[in-house]
Amino acid sequence: MSAILRRQDLNASAESRKKRLFIVAGARPNFMKIAPLLRELKRGTYPFDPRLVHTGQHYDQTMSGVFFEELEIPTPDYHLEVGSGSHAEQTAKIMVRFEEICLNERPDIVIVVGDVNSTLACAIVAKKLHVKVAHVEAGLRSGDMAMPEEINRLVTDAISDWFFVTEKSGLEHLLAEGKPKERIFFVGHVMIDNLFHQVEKLRRLPASTLSTTRLKEDFPDYGVVTLHRPSNVDDPAGLAGLIEALAEISRDLPLIFPVHPRTRANLQKFGIEAPKTIVMTQPLSYMDFLNLFKDARLVLTDSGGLQEETTALGIPCLTLRENTERPITVIEGTNTVVGKDPARIMAEARRILSGRSKPGRRPDLWDGQAAVRILHTLAATGTTDG
Ligand code: UD1
Repeated sequence: MSAILRRQDLNASAESRKKRLFIVAGARPNFMKIAPLLRELKRGTYPFDPRLVHTGQHYDQTMSGVFFEELEIPTPDYHLEVGSGSHAEQTAKIMVRFEEICLNERPDIVIVVGDVNSTLACAIVAKKLHVKVAHVEAGLRSGDMAMPEEINRLVTDAISDWFFVTEKSGLEHLLAEGKPKERIFFVGHVMIDNLFHQVEKLRRLPASTLSTTRLKEDFPDYGVVTLHRPSNVDDPAGLAGLIEALAEISRDLPLIFPVHPRTRANLQKFGIEAPKTIVMTQPLSYMDFLNLFKDARLVLTDSGGLQEETTALGIPCLTLRENTERPITVIEGTNTVVGKDPARIMAEARRILSGRSKPGRRPDLWDGQAAVRILHTLAATGTTDG
């Protein structure tokens, strides 16, 4: 047998020893979390044969396509094209289509991130096929069962094999729920890995290539708003109250508001109009949005990820919700949970605008290395599990 043939045999057997790793993403906040994992897999020598699965929960160019381009995410190996629907409809469609590819490809490990319907659906399918599940961003709890994401978190964590946590509260919840200590790994936050990577890229990008550069010239001093939680935008009186509070704040500080499709549809349906001092835009790409919020005086949001990104960059953040599953952003970071009461929102915004914003620090292990820690852990523990 020639040396070349033997080398090929060796390569083939090394390939066959690699574990097949599925990485799942479906909705906008997932894309920032898988990007660092995929970048690290490409860079490092890990014993994995990765496949990217996009469920298609989000599908518009502005909610999905542009993130793949900007975050350097490769074209998915599988696109399930499930689209929108009721929770049951969307979850069921993802499950049926994901099961089919799992049966064909027989992955060894499925990585799910965050708390969206795609996270839940793919975790259930994998586990029922005896495929091991790694949950990235495990253990977060808002305690609010009216929030669909809380149900997704609880169910996903109930059946996961690895728990990768971003903050100490995650660790505490999982231990209190009886999860084995040796399966819980405090690794930091892939979303923050991505943030730092993109901040570096932004520094090198000509400002003229970003649509928000023009906005920043028009409004040298501004705040940023995002709103999309059903609890904030699905109820006409609640949404009207929030817009009133924002309108009041925008008399002192113009607010730039990239509007989520759900919110835009509801504003139209309820006939709610905002003053011109609230500048509404289409959903923005990651770089355009980063370019905007990194220089904001204040961010008002009901997003989960933005509470963390503002803490990592030291930008004052008011969370327009009654609770947060990310308490580290309040305890150590720049975040304040202000609820939905317009008077409280206005008072807290005034406090920040008068220069009395609370100081913050960057939480432990939010250092850009979470993806490395996750993949090292999986390589060390996932390849010997049989
Ligand atoms: C989903 C996640 C939420 C996450 C949010 C980020 C769940 C339960 N919710 O909520 O945790 O914070 O994504 O955006 O998984 N739509 C479009 N284009 C798209 C996608 C959606 O127009 O590409 C519209 C559709 O009308 C759809 C609505 O937005 O019905 C809501 O989308 P959906 O994925 O159901 O929930 P989100 O509110 O986006």
